Amino acid sequence: MRNKKTYLVTGGAGFIGSNYIHYLFENYQQVKVVNLDKLTYAGNPENLADLKDNPDYIFVKGDICDAKIVNDIFVKFKPDFLINFAAESHVDRSIGDAEDFIRTDMYGVYVLLEATRKYGLERFIQISTDEVYGSIDSGSFTEESPLKPGNPYSASKAGGDRLAYSYFNTYKLPVIITRASNNYGPFQYPEKLIPLFVTNAMEDKPLPLYGDGKNVRDWLYVKDHCKAIEFALKNGKLGEVYNIAGGSEMENIEITKLILRLTGKTESLIKPVADRIGHDRRYSLNASKLKTLGWNQEHAFKTAMQETVDWYKKNRQWWEVLKSGEYLEYYKKHYKMEL
Ligand SMILES: NC(=O)c1ccc[n+]([C@@H]2O[C@H](COP(=O)([O-])OP(=O)(O)OC[C@H]3O[C@@H](n4cnc5c(N)ncnc54)[C@H](O)[C@@H]3O)[C@@H](O)[C@H]2O)c1
Repeated sequence: MRNKKTYLVTGGAGFIGSNYIHYLFENYQQVKVVNLDKLTYAGNPENLADLKDNPDYIFVKGDICDAKIVNDIFVKFKPDFLINFAAESHVDRSIGDAEDFIRTDMYGVYVLLEATRKYGLERFIQISTDEVYGSIDSGSFTEESPLKPGNPYSASKAGGDRLAYSYFNTYKLPVIITRASNNYGPFQYPEKLIPLFVTNAMEDKPLPLYGDGKNVRDWLYVKDHCKAIEFALKNGKLGEVYNIAGGSEMENIEITKLILRLTGKTESLIKPVADRIGHDRRYSLNASKLKTLGWNQEHAFKTAMQETVDWYKKNRQWWEVLKSGEYLEYYKKHYKMEL
């Protein structure tokens, strides 16, 4: 029997995936990680540069939609666990063009499930999102709430989420699905609200705030999310969905003002822009199901936000490289202003 567990992490070069791989190596002596990542604009090997000489970390550049690569990995590395983070993940880009979202977030999940069906493993964790429920004016969604995704990103994620469940129901694959709220922390690509606003503020550039700024998101520190995924993998029941919430709901305008305070900048940097089309007003999760099993958040929002801002201050080189080239073109077209 092997005593070293092998994790196949897909999309591990992105924001949450790279934090999760760090989490695994920080918490386990006996672990091997295979990271399959296509390295889209959002995938960044620099996120895992500290692991490049670690013999237990294997990076494979490839697409989860490519059955040959996926099957070869199963044959060669015989993973015990698969955690699927790989996705096109930015709502705005899905509104521009949904094709890659449908490919990766739905078809890619099918390829991974088929390989699991063929070769077997102990756990298949599908990383889903709170966005599959759609918007809620008051109260919070439980795992039993109906899915009503409101944009191409969340609709593709809902497809992957339910497809994973169907492989549990139909073929008894050991699937668990997690639905987390908005994450923040180190290594987040600077197109998402928090790293975009923190880095723009550091550069004295405008913070493009959608609509009236009153859309509400629940913020979850990425390290709490990683721990929750691992907790669900070890303690969750097969075929179940687990909501993972940060318990820190805020209007976008509130978080914007907080970022300006933490970076020592004034509110004159706030620049209202036309609202995102189909913009979900509020996301809110009830996470008592995972809490009842024993998961607890460890990081308070205030300190984790401070740590996050400090990280972007200390790692200027990491994000400055990303905010160039195609990024600037996208930014100009999307926000109708130069960065
Ligand atoms: N960021 C959040 O707030 C949040 C919240 C809840 C759930 N999620 C989910 O968590 C997962 C990770 O999100 P993230 O914010 O780290 O995303 P991200 O965009 O930072 O990273 C996605 C990674 O997937 C890789 N990838 C994309 N298409 C691929 C393909 N076809 N094959 C292999 N790799 C591919 C990219 O190269 C990148 O490394 C996603 O599934 C997302 O839907 C994210």
